[in-house]
Amino acid sequence: MDNRPVEPHIFVIFGATGDLMQRSLLPALLNLAGRGHIRRESIILGTARSAQYNDVSFRKLAYESFAKAGISLDPGMTKWCDECLFYQSIGDEKLEDFSALSERIKALERELNSTGNRVFYLALPPIAFPSTIERLGEVGLSRSPGWTRLVVEKPFGRDLESARALNQLIHRNFDESQIYRIDHYLGKETVQNLLVFRFANPIFESLWNRDRIHSVQITVAEELGIGKRAGYYDRAGALRDMVQNHLTQLLTLVAMEVPVAFDSDSIRFEKIKVLRAIAPIMDDQVVLGQYGRGSANGKEIPGYLEEPGVPDDSRTETFVAMQIDIANWRWHGVPFYVRTGKRLPERITQIIINFKRAPVSIFDPTGRCDMHFNSLNMMLQPDEGFDLCFEMKALGEPLKLQTQRLHFRYAEAFAPLPDAYETLLLDIITGDQTLFVHANEVEESWRLYAPVIEQKLPIHTYRAGTWGPQEAEKLIKREGHVWANS
Ligand SMILES: NC(=O)c1ccc[n+]([C@@H]2O[C@H](COP(=O)([O-])OP(=O)(O)OC[C@H]3O[C@@H](n4cnc5c(N)ncnc54)[C@H](OP(=O)(O)O)[C@@H]3O)[C@@H](O)[C@H]2O)c1
Repeated sequence: MDNRPVEPHIFVIFGATGDLMQRSLLPALLNLAGRGHIRRESIILGTARSAQYNDVSFRKLAYESFAKAGISLDPGMTKWCDECLFYQSIGDEKLEDFSALSERIKALERELNSTGNRVFYLALPPIAFPSTIERLGEVGLSRSPGWTRLVVEKPFGRDLESARALNQLIHRNFDESQIYRIDHYLGKETVQNLLVFRFANPIFESLWNRDRIHSVQITVAEELGIGKRAGYYDRAGALRDMVQNHLTQLLTLVAMEVPVAFDSDSIRFEKIKVLRAIAPIMDDQVVLGQYGRGSANGKEIPGYLEEPGVPDDSRTETFVAMQIDIANWRWHGVPFYVRTGKRLPERITQIIINFKRAPVSIFDPTGRCDMHFNSLNMMLQPDEGFDLCFEMKALGEPLKLQTQRLHFRYAEAFAPLPDAYETLLLDIITGDQTLFVHANEVEESWRLYAPVIEQKLPIHTYRAGTWGPQEAEKLIKREGHVWANS
């Protein structure tokens, strides 16, 4: 149970009729309210351009979302929804539409005797971020008698220039201390546990360096294709959609130094230091791929170019494998291999720490050391937990080594894990920025990948349902490694 005090507030969501709101935000807000994390006097005000909704039809939309999420409402929560959920159209997003929104917010606050604490959540297509932020500033909604917080969904820019421009626009209207840039991966329990695992367990932290670690692998694999998102995905690709944000966040959490305290400034400062220490990424350290036709579970799968809405000549990458070198004292000489892709054989997010092998094996008469790496496999989703893999003597003669695992699973130790959005929404309401991305972090990570994006590297085709192009195997084999699960 989280005991942080929560204050009454108004939670304004732009894009309140969209998929994110219906699938993730509404169920998360309801669950938080049900657990007493949202005060009864608080209000959720949905907005979108559509004039087709009003308070009543918006509540109906909310009930449908809860039903789809498998949530059944008790009479108390139904009453909460009827008293707390409101809708306001922002029409053509003109100044007068935002003035009307401002008046509505103030009227609701007066009714509730509220102190003027406000959250503005941009669950909008990125194209609508700048105009919305500007309008909020113009009508004076970026400041209030209480606190005001601005939440910006991903993607944050599509390159260094656009991310920088968005940061500048935000900073003309809001302070950095008001900004919550979401990377929902950071809300996952398993991702936050990386910090506890590393900094509360000295046995691991004492091994966490180039003297003991041989290499690190980070994989975020998706089994699905692009679904109906061709319009967005074909402009983004795997590098922008996954590597620049989720994979880079995981990498910084694995590689960062011990922060001086467990607070947002200290943690974000250490993450930025990792990004600054990453050596420029060379062309031969990157493999890009695009899925062609293939099969999975006995079914034929169309190739990326055959997906509805994808141009015939698209060069968008659906797979990235990359070697990243961190040029600092802790990590010099330890390759970090990151990999992500669509239409891979399974949905899995995992981090594998391979420890150095013994220099010589006394169990092999040739002296060759063909023992497996001791490794720590951290499974972030699904089947959350970790395995510590080590060598054992197999039963019987002749003497043979066998890899065994020490095994921990969240599901065996804890109640079901909370949804990432619940964690992040509660942090926003309580004003904790630790799990949100700082302006400098975003810009550093775009700076890192800008040359890769600009290079127009070859795109290798891989069969849907496989672990990506052969070139990704070659990339990692150069230094005698193999990808886990391939
Ligand atoms: N869906 C997810 O699971 C998910 C996950 C992670 C991040 N995100 C991010 O969350 C944001 C919203 O995604 P979504 O999937 O909810 O999008 P969506 O289903 O297309 O909904 C977009 C919402 O924004 C409103 N809107 C306002 N200005 C708009 C404009 N200029 N163009 C189009 N719509 C506009 C739409 O209503 P009106 O047209 O009536 O204004 C609608 O309510 C995006 O930045 C996305 O990248 C989504």
